[in-house]
Amino acid sequence: MATSTTIQTQCLGYTPIPVALLSAEEVPAVDLYRKDAESGRLRLYRAADVPMQPEDLQRLNESNTHWLYATDIDHEQMQRFIRRKLDLLIRDESLSLRDRFGRLNIVVEGLLTSAFETNDTDEVMKSASQISAMAVRLLCRDDMTAGDLISLLHHDYQTVTHSLNVSYMMVALARDLRLVGNDELPSVAVAGVLHDIGKLSVSDRILTKSDRLQRREQRVAQKHPALGFRRLGKRTDISFAQLMVVYQHHERTNGKGYPVSAVGDEIHPWARLCSVVNVFESLISNRPYRGRYSLAEAFSMMDQHLSDGLDQEMYQCWKQSIRKK
Ligand SMILES: [Fe+2]
Repeated sequence: MATSTTIQTQCLGYTPIPVALLSAEEVPAVDLYRKDAESGRLRLYRAADVPMQPEDLQRLNESNTHWLYATDIDHEQMQRFIRRKLDLLIRDESLSLRDRFGRLNIVVEGLLTSAFETNDTDEVMKSASQISAMAVRLLCRDDMTAGDLISLLHHDYQTVTHSLNVSYMMVALARDLRLVGNDELPSVAVAGVLHDIGKLSVSDRILTKSDRLQRREQRVAQKHPALGFRRLGKRTDISFAQLMVVYQHHERTNGKGYPVSAVGDEIHPWARLCSVVNVFESLISNRPYRGRYSLAEAFSMMDQHLSDGLDQEMYQCWKQSIRKK
């Protein structure tokens, strides 16, 4: 499946550590490695007993080094460190909400990329639930509008970036619609992270092709909702609503979607929610075969081509949410 070219975090046998979570006062007491930009090999950056100076962190940021690595011997310790630091970051009222969300997003993109790269459903589920709980805490604040959210997201086309963006947007729209109670928003977020998990079973060649897909390739790509359903269908840690997001997010209320051309209320409300933001997110993000559209262009295209295929109440609410300042 397609994984990020901008945040390839995984190195076999090593745990990626986000530089954004390190501070000179608190650096884990383990050997840290840095990836060589040219060879891709890891080299020892800092031994466990060497203190980290603020200038070191500044230099890492200036050179766009967002990840260091610890060997997997230290994996559990590093996971605990990352979770604790993320929790502190989310609560840190001395940082602006934008700053906190921006940092959180960089970190969770990396963590989720790592999980997707393993092609292991358990790993993806684990990351999805951790990430969702954290993101929802920032997304549910009254001072975070859907418009703010859009301006903070990355818009390069990668399955992981797209999945995360859709997840955040589903939470924002579900909150604005009051579709579910606040306690259910983390489940909505997990559904968003998982919605394209079927793409783990589709070849990179098709997912990243820069030319228009041939009909046969299109049929393969369009199997991803059913493939995702099959991958998750027997799990006990996924709800029916979440499963329907995976299976029905390409259905259209006018029956012109796939995999089974369901119509109207046959499509689960969470899947209808996902459809609206999924189309929107795809339009405002770069694709292998085109650049991104502006928000106005995206809405204009949706008005023209999809007005009878999306849940109207949800779509109109999303438009209002994005325009709200
Ligand atoms: Fe999809």
